[in-house]
Amino acid sequence: MLKTKAKSRLPEDFHDLVDPEQATVDRSIFSDEEIYKLELERIFARGWNFMCHESQIPKPGDFFLSFIGDDSVIATRDKTGKLQVFLNTCRHRGNAVCRAEQGHTKSFLCTYHGWTYGLDGKLIGVPGYKDFYHEDLDRSQWGLVAAPHVESYKGFVFACMDPDAPNLNEFLGPVGRIGLDLIAERGRIVPIDGIKKNIIGCNWKLAVDNAFDYYHAPLTHASTIMVRNPRVDKEGNALPPRANSSANDHRVMLGSYGHAISGPKVSETERSLAALLPDHKIEPRVDLAWRDKPETLEAMGPAGIEINSHPNIFPNMWVTESSQVALRIPRGPRSTEVWWFSFVDADLSDERQKAYVEHSNFLHGPSGMNEQEDGENWDQSTRGTASILAKNFPLNYAMNRDRGEVKFDNAGVAYIDTHVNEHAQLWMYMCWADWMTAPDWSSLKQRHESPPTDRF
Ligand code: FES
Ligand code: FE
Repeated sequence: MLKTKAKSRLPEDFHDLVDPEQATVDRSIFSDEEIYKLELERIFARGWNFMCHESQIPKPGDFFLSFIGDDSVIATRDKTGKLQVFLNTCRHRGNAVCRAEQGHTKSFLCTYHGWTYGLDGKLIGVPGYKDFYHEDLDRSQWGLVAAPHVESYKGFVFACMDPDAPNLNEFLGPVGRIGLDLIAERGRIVPIDGIKKNIIGCNWKLAVDNAFDYYHAPLTHASTIMVRNPRVDKEGNALPPRANSSANDHRVMLGSYGHAISGPKVSETERSLAALLPDHKIEPRVDLAWRDKPETLEAMGPAGIEINSHPNIFPNMWVTESSQVALRIPRGPRSTEVWWFSFVDADLSDERQKAYVEHSNFLHGPSGMNEQEDGENWDQSTRGTASILAKNFPLNYAMNRDRGEVKFDNAGVAYIDTHVNEHAQLWMYMCWADWMTAPDWSSLKQRHESPPTDRF
């Protein structure tokens, strides 16, 4: 178990910063330097982190650079084809041993003095081993640092640096698995080449928070919506977007360890639109046919199958209804690097695959309309949590608090159908406090044994 010690300035119990009764969250968690450092230790270094899709490293020697918190890591396959994840740092002076973002290699050569590591992480080459080290260096002790746990769920590769962590399946639980099934169950899915990367001046949690936020869309994304789905009155004048908030059209699912899903269900409008559109016109959000397979229903369950919205796999892996994954990678308390992986079903026609790419480029990444609109708000919100006067006033997460009945589907998965709400955000921060306070995995597991709804 990675042992950590809270600094004295920090609260003993981070639940003091998240008040479920008042539905408030202390602003310090979005900009405090010490809290940020502890998040890297207690959340990212102890949890499961998404690396890449298996199809991005199909053969021995293929590699993909990713992150665990602020640590650069190499996801690769050794000669036997086994998935491995290593810290991307030479054991000699710490230089990065891999600079390319993705590729194929026989070994990892450190370009500083030339120590060389095999695909299994072993130190296999040391210049001057005989003359300078007098064959006295125990090379078996100086290999790359390997993640003790590397597993994949339906092709999504995750790594965890804490030996005491539960396995990936247990960590994901039903809500995490449904979140990934939203992409994995679509067919023979593969990522489109090229990951879109963009740095935004915000705290990573505010970007995650937005995953569940359907309150902001009609205003923040008014321009995008008016371009993409224009509404006009009888005279042909442009109308503003409609707020979508009718009772029970939103579904919330709260999972263990902070996973959650929140947003609109598949609507009748989407179903009828999908039925009317010619095949090549179907755009990602109304691409619903894959849900009709019995295996998909079995995988996602009756409550999950109706989800057409945004899961977050705690801490920072956001999944969209249109087959994309966004990582919110921490780059400091007030900086986040956003990565977009866009997936398509390889068996779709070229035209349909193109529609997915266009959709992704239109909305996400440095040139995406939604990302520009969201990013500016997250940047300003983060500033508003750091200034001397403003930081004393907590943020409000009370929307639709205590409304909506908790139900269970026949697979035992809890869900709430209600209006637009902030349940998932508040749940995520309650779980954040659990991670930040728990001294080890056994206490975190204990806290998350009972259904989340007991505490909500
Ligand atoms: Fe890698 Fe010296 S830092 S060989
Ligand atoms: Fe948005």
